[in-house]
Amino acid sequence: MSVEKTFAIIKPDAVESKNAGKILARIEAESFRVVALKRHRISKREAESFYGEHAAKGFFSSLVAYMTSGPVYVAVLERENAVAHWRAVMGATDPAKADAGTIRKEFGRSIERNAAHGSANPADAAREVTFFFSHAELI
Ligand code: CMP
Repeated sequence: MSVEKTFAIIKPDAVESKNAGKILARIEAESFRVVALKRHRISKREAESFYGEHAAKGFFSSLVAYMTSGPVYVAVLERENAVAHWRAVMGATDPAKADAGTIRKEFGRSIERNAAHGSANPADAAREVTFFFSHAELI
């Protein structure tokens, strides 16, 4: 298994409810190296582009409104098997279906307000990292 990077967002609901620090502590406890991290207010244009694959879905406009509703933390995480491991730590998209001990079970409020985002696969991770970070910001 090789060391790889994934992209994470601590979403507006988790930031607003002051759970970002707990989620970052969990990230470190899971042996991720935080390669980049910044607080960011996602613009409508960014959200529409970032979630472009969901443009035809009924929840798209609500998702864009939510993701632009308040600051988030965007991060690049590195460890062995980072993409799959971060998805396992987050749990299922719907917090109601997520396993006990996962971030979405603990901190998510609904299928939309689900506390955290993680890249679906290594190709998406590469696209999502460069969407929010320059090469020089990856330390
Ligand atoms: P995320 O994994 O960041 O990627 C797409 C997001 O769309 C997802 O998290 C949820 O926030 C949201 N989402 C996915 N499915 C639904 C749904 N059925 N209803 C509302 N929001 C959804």
